[in-house]
Amino acid sequence: MLLQAVPGVAGQTWTPERFWQQRSGYAGSEACRNCHAGIYAKQEVSGHARTLRPLSEVGEFKRGLPFELLDRVGNANLRLSLDPSGSVLLSSVRGGEQTSVSLRWAFGAGTKAITPVTVNDRGDYVESRVSWFRGAGAFDLTPGARERVPGSFAETLGQVLAPEDRKKCFGCHTSRPMADDPVPARNEMGIRCERCHGPGLEHVRAASADSRKSSIFHPRKLTGFQMAQVCGTCHGRPPREIDFDEIRQIQERPLAARFPSQRLVLSRCFNETDGGLKCTVCHDPHDNVAPSQEALDTPCRTCHSPGRKSAAICPKASSNCSGCHMPKARVLHHTEFADHWIRAKP
Ligand code: HEC
Ligand code: HEC
Ligand code: HEC
Ligand code: HEC
Ligand code: HEC
Ligand code: HEC
Ligand code: HEC
Repeated sequence: MLLQAVPGVAGQTWTPERFWQQRSGYAGSEACRNCHAGIYAKQEVSGHARTLRPLSEVGEFKRGLPFELLDRVGNANLRLSLDPSGSVLLSSVRGGEQTSVSLRWAFGAGTKAITPVTVNDRGDYVESRVSWFRGAGAFDLTPGARERVPGSFAETLGQVLAPEDRKKCFGCHTSRPMADDPVPARNEMGIRCERCHGPGLEHVRAASADSRKSSIFHPRKLTGFQMAQVCGTCHGRPPREIDFDEIRQIQERPLAARFPSQRLVLSRCFNETDGGLKCTVCHDPHDNVAPSQEALDTPCRTCHSPGRKSAAICPKASSNCSGCHMPKARVLHHTEFADHWIRAKP
């Protein structure tokens, strides 16, 4: 099997891209539904699966329309409205000039925020200057837009994305690596099965033929660091153990709290358990963040409990562990992230 050779190779970064080079073709995530119904059902409605959708499908965005905003940085009046066909229109008025564009895709599941991206009549990809924020329950300027004065009147609608950047946006928010066609098919939008497990056609064939051999990657085989790398292709590439400059930068940069894979590996919990603290100790990779504080405390207690000699007991409290040791950092406008660098005194 191609895959067995992949994890654990000393000094190499394990990425799903490497895994994608296996000879299997893609089956499409729909193909996994029948045999893995339970996983499929929860994954389908998770933030991963919903992180890219046609904007016309996104109720919470459309509900607040029409909406108007005076963009003082761009010196324009921005207006979001619904056109009769049900699509969302963004218009900009400045002096006697007016321009508008129909918004096509919603980036973000809406757990934190939704930013539309579209193509204008010149064929340029544009990131809307207006986004929707769950925390505020309202529309406001997109993160970064306040610091960016539009270069032209057309850009008061949004920033034109260079081809590499556009590829990156779609690349991290879809299920397959991007070929030249930048626009994913509907069923490849969002992060679905084959993004983490690799192409599944061989597995579907083998499983349908009742073959015993496991022809798809099981990430349980990964060590904690390898998993931080795999999830870190999107959630922040972890520093190599010997790269002290990079480690220091990650420690000192507040924005790094947005990248759980970079911060987690700095923790004593991670380093003193021989890679035992994988992302999956605290997260079901097929579901959203656990919904209750009780469920978030449980993994801490597997190591930090009276009777277990491996890890110390908190002198201050016996619940709400992450509330104090993984505090939320407001690193983006309207948006908070839990700092995965677990410390006694963050
Ligand atoms: C025809 C039924 C069938 C379909 C379709 C199917 N699977 Fe499976 N899958 C199985 C069975 C049976 C097993 C357990 C036996 C094995 O490990 O191969 C399994 C095991 C797995 C495992 C664990 C592998 C391991 O090493 O234990 C993963 C991961 C997986 N499937 C993912 C997928 C994904 C992703 C898809 C869609 C691309 C998919 N499966 C489609 C039947 C199916
Ligand atoms: C292909 C890129 C990609 C990969 C690989 C990836 N993620 Fe994500 N993840 C995202 C994106 C994008 C979101 C944001 C979803 C949204 O729009 O709110 C996200 C959200 C999450 C969330 C928050 C979900 C919620 O709303 O409660 C968790 C937890 C998470 N990822 C864990 C993981 C873990 C663990 C892995 C590795 C097993 C992983 N991710 C791999 C891109 C990725
Ligand atoms: C390196 C991979 C990567 C790239 C490139 C990327 N994203 Fe994301 N995106 C993520 C991950 C991971 C999350 C979830 C955690 C977070 O917000 O950091 C996310 C979350 C989001 C969210 C939800 C709000 C939030 O902060 O959780 C929006 C909206 C979004 N991305 C839009 C975009 C747009 C637009 C682009 C291109 C300009 C882009 N992303 C490029 C990985 C990426
Ligand atoms: C964000 C990455 C990610 C996505 C997307 C994802 N998986 Fe997984 N999957 C994992 C990880 C990580 C594990 C290993 C969990 C563990 O260590 O127990 C796993 C384990 C599995 C297993 C083995 C379960 C077991 O108990 O042995 C199956 C089957 C599976 N996934 C199927 C799917 C299917 C079907 C989809 C799409 C509906 C999917 N996965 C989407 C990351 C992902
Ligand atoms: C020791 C437990 C633990 C481990 C290990 C862990 N997380 Fe988390 N994670 C949390 C907690 C706690 C939250 C915040 C939940 C809340 O209160 O909303 C969280 C939230 C997140 C979020 C949502 C964005 C945010 O910050 O609110 C993402 C994405 C995420 N984790 C990804 C990862 C990835 C990727 C890994 C592996 C590199 C990982 N986590 C490992 C406990 C953990
Ligand atoms: C896989 C086992 C494991 C898990 C799970 C785990 N830890 Fe730890 N943690 C350790 C070990 C080992 C140490 C270092 C030795 C000690 O403190 O006894 C440590 C150290 C700590 C420290 C002291 C860090 C410092 O700055 O000195 C804190 C605080 C902590 N953990 C909190 C948590 C919280 C909160 C969670 C859950 C979100 C958690 N841990 C989950 C194993 C774990
Ligand atoms: C109200 C905030 C708060 C909560 C909630 C909390 N802690 Fe702590 N914890 C602290 C503080 C403050 C310290 C540092 C104490 C000191 O150094 O005097 C600490 C220290 C620790 C240490 C280091 C102990 C040592 O001897 O090195 C560990 C491990 C730890 N906490 C784990 C946890 C776990 C696990 C939970 C949940 C069951 C938890 N904490 C809940 C505030 C909190």
